[in-house]
This record gives sequence, structure tokens and C-alpha cells, in this order.
Amino acid sequence: MEHTISITTQAERKVTDTKSVPFGKVPTEHMFIAEYSDGKWQNAKVVPFHDLTLSPLTLCLHYGQTVFEGMKAFVTRDGDINIFRMDKHFDRFNKSLHRMCMPAVPQKLFMNAIKELVTVDSDWVPKDEDGSLYIRPFMIATEDRIGVKISDEYLFMVVCSPAFQYYTKPLKVKVETTYVRSADGGTGTAKCGGNYGGAFYPTNLAKAEGFDQVLWTDSTHHEFIEESGTMNAMFFIDNVLITPELSGTILDGVTRDSLLTIAREKGMNVEVRQISYHELIRAFEDGKRVEAFGAGTAAVVAPIEIIAIGHKEYHCYTGPDATMFRLQKELFDIRKGTVPDTHHWNNIIANNTGK
Ligand code: COI
Repeated sequence: MEHTISITTQAERKVTDTKSVPFGKVPTEHMFIAEYSDGKWQNAKVVPFHDLTLSPLTLCLHYGQTVFEGMKAFVTRDGDINIFRMDKHFDRFNKSLHRMCMPAVPQKLFMNAIKELVTVDSDWVPKDEDGSLYIRPFMIATEDRIGVKISDEYLFMVVCSPAFQYYTKPLKVKVETTYVRSADGGTGTAKCGGNYGGAFYPTNLAKAEGFDQVLWTDSTHHEFIEESGTMNAMFFIDNVLITPELSGTILDGVTRDSLLTIAREKGMNVEVRQISYHELIRAFEDGKRVEAFGAGTAAVVAPIEIIAIGHKEYHCYTGPDATMFRLQKELFDIRKGTVPDTHHWNNIIANNTGK
């Protein structure tokens, strides 16, 4: 099926001072929107950013059929625009949609929607070294009907917002052993809205105790580390990179995958396996150097400085020579186009910005 995208732009294209904007607060001037009804995608268009009008009966408002992605575009050293790892985000989006009984988005529609939108709003991609354009593709169930059912109608949209550092300081986290993010057979691998809404309550309890985030553990033993807040959890213990395997309850993070790939390439020791908080305690008590960090599109590498396990707080290494920062720099260099993109992760979509 051919998907033509109509493009209606605003005459004026104001670019605000992107640097002072808190994450996700200011959208770019345009958005993409397509409708799904009668079993097909139609009416695909890039239009000026606007509010939606929805009936109070709209299904997504009641039963949570919503899925999203988070991607980034960068201005490269040559002044081109690079949208990072579109293929992997596309695959994950459709896997999440499948889990939530929502219709797949054809690859061409997904890719073109994002490319067209980023091209129209290319002036909004920050040129600063530490800036990027955060791209949020998402889908919601829009059929008007309050009965519990799989929606027959959907909107697929893409919005963007300039992004800088997500966390401004190293995190203090607490190992969570009461509440869980996801259980076996649940929706943990899907990037669906409910996973995030369900995390608010335990995260709020942790915040009231002075922590920034929780380190989620598994739902059976409450012992094995799963994720860190809304990011994948990764550790360097005596320079061995350890991260939990994708067991079905963990998001298949694009940053996680990129960092693992780079680490292996650089000859680092990488272990993708279960890691319990007991192992962390042993490592701290044996005086090993423990680095801990969250990995995600928004935050990239978010260093963790304190992990509380029970009533005890353990200090992780966050010095400037920490290995996690070396990995982060390697990823940064690939995205900025200063080193060869051997994995074909970069999607260069325009060559006339910033030049
Ligand atoms: C991301 O890192 O892209 C996320 O989805 C985390 C958060 C912004 C929801």
C-alpha cells in the first residue's frame, strides 16, 4: 500500500532558545498524524502542531491501549542531520503494538513520517554538542466506545522536542523489593504507557525517602536487577560490563544494545546475565570498583552514585575516568559522525542544516 504524506507547513518557523527548555516541554512547530480505520492507514500528514479533540468515550483513555517510542536526531560534525537507529526503533514499536493488539505501522510509513517531520522542523535540531532532537512516535486507540474491547480505530503520531541533559547529576537509587515493574508474561518488553504509569507510585515512595529512582528487581525472587527507573540497568564491576538479559520483563533498549555492541567491539569483557543485589553487595564489600548506570534514549548514560540496598547505602564509582563515560563517548562519536558508522546506525536525512 502506498502512503502519501501531505505536508502543510506554517509560514513562520520560530525556534525558541532550546537550551533553557525542560525535557519535553516545548514541541517543534509541526507534527505527523495518520489515521487507522476500516483496516488501513490513511490521511497521513505533516501539519502544524495542534491539540487533539477526543470524545470522552475514546478507548485509550480508559483501557490503556497506547504505545510509544523515543528516538533522537543529531546534527553531525558535518552539519548533516542524523536520526539514530530508526530500524531498531521501528522493530520495537511494532513488537510493542503487537503485544497491545494494535495494528502494525508499515515500515515505509514509519520511516517517511519521521524523516519528513524532522526535515520540516530541521531548524529545531540543536547544534550544541550536548543537544539533540527527541522524537516521540506514538499510537493511541481512538474508537469511541466505553465497552472493554480492542479498538478498531487508531491515531499514529510523531512529535518532537529539543533535548539536552536528562539528568543533571548522578542518581541515588534504591533497590526495590516490594513493588515490581513487570512480571513474567506481562507487558515488560512493550513500550506501552501502562508500564510507566504503574511505576509512578513506587518511584514516588522512593523519592519521599530521598532517592531519584528505583532499581527494579524481578517479580519472583525480588532479587535480580531488572531496570533502573525508566532505563536499562548496566554495571561495570572491576571493568566487566554486566547487564541483565532480555528475559521478557525488560525493555530491549536501543542504547543498551548500542553500548553492548560498542563494548564488545572495544574488547571489553561483557556479561549479559542475571545479576542479583547480593552480588552487588559482595562486590562493594570486597572493595571492587562498581560503576552503575542507567542506559536509555533520553538519558543516554545516567551515572548512579548511590545504591541503597535495605538500610545500607553503597557508593559507586563516578569519577571522570569511569569506563561508562568511555562507552558514552564512543556512542556520541558515532552519532556525531566523527568515527566510522560501521553498523549503519546513522540515517542521514538532510545535508543543508548548520552548514
Ligand atoms: C526514553 O529514554 O526514550 C524513554 O522512553 C524514557 C522516558 C523519557 C519515558
